[in-house]
Amino acid sequence: MRMNLTVNGERHMLEEVRESESLLFVLRERVGLPGTKNACEQGRCGSCSVLLDGMLCCSCLVPAVQARECSVTTVEGLAGQGGPGEEDGPDSVQRAFLDAGAVQCGFCTPGMLLAAHNLLRHTPDPQEAEVRQALAGNICRCTGYQHIVEAVLLAAEYRRAERGALVQPDGAP
Ligand code: FES
Ligand code: FES
Repeated sequence: MRMNLTVNGERHMLEEVRESESLLFVLRERVGLPGTKNACEQGRCGSCSVLLDGMLCCSCLVPAVQARECSVTTVEGLAGQGGPGEEDGPDSVQRAFLDAGAVQCGFCTPGMLLAAHNLLRHTPDPQEAEVRQALAGNICRCTGYQHIVEAVLLAAEYRRAERGALVQPDGAP
């Protein structure tokens, strides 16, 4: 099947996509974005998390043909969404993971970043319990989750600071 897919704002025309191909496979092997990781390929680990038309999902469970004409955000699409003056750098969630020491092997990290980004879009000032709930579908094999949770809370602080920097002194956005 021929299909269109928009990934991180870029439109791709894909040829001869088989019904057996997952969105995860297409992102990695056809679009050439290996940031989204494949681990269990059974919807159990969250390492393949992406935003599909704004909804967090496990891309290993989505048949690619069901995503035709959809818009996908992968971890590669988070970079460059940093705050003022950081348009070319990592975004606030990525910086917070680095600053909080929340990355070890990094295999789970892309999925964690997407889950954290998704949480902060809807809940900009989360409590720790809300962070833990938002990350419940993402498994890390390397470490406990404390640094990861701290990173998400730090990212919320960074985003608050970025929003503050975008507000003019008279309060106008
Ligand atoms: S690879 Fe998709 S949930 Fe594990
Ligand atoms: S940092 Fe290695 S699996 Fe999470």
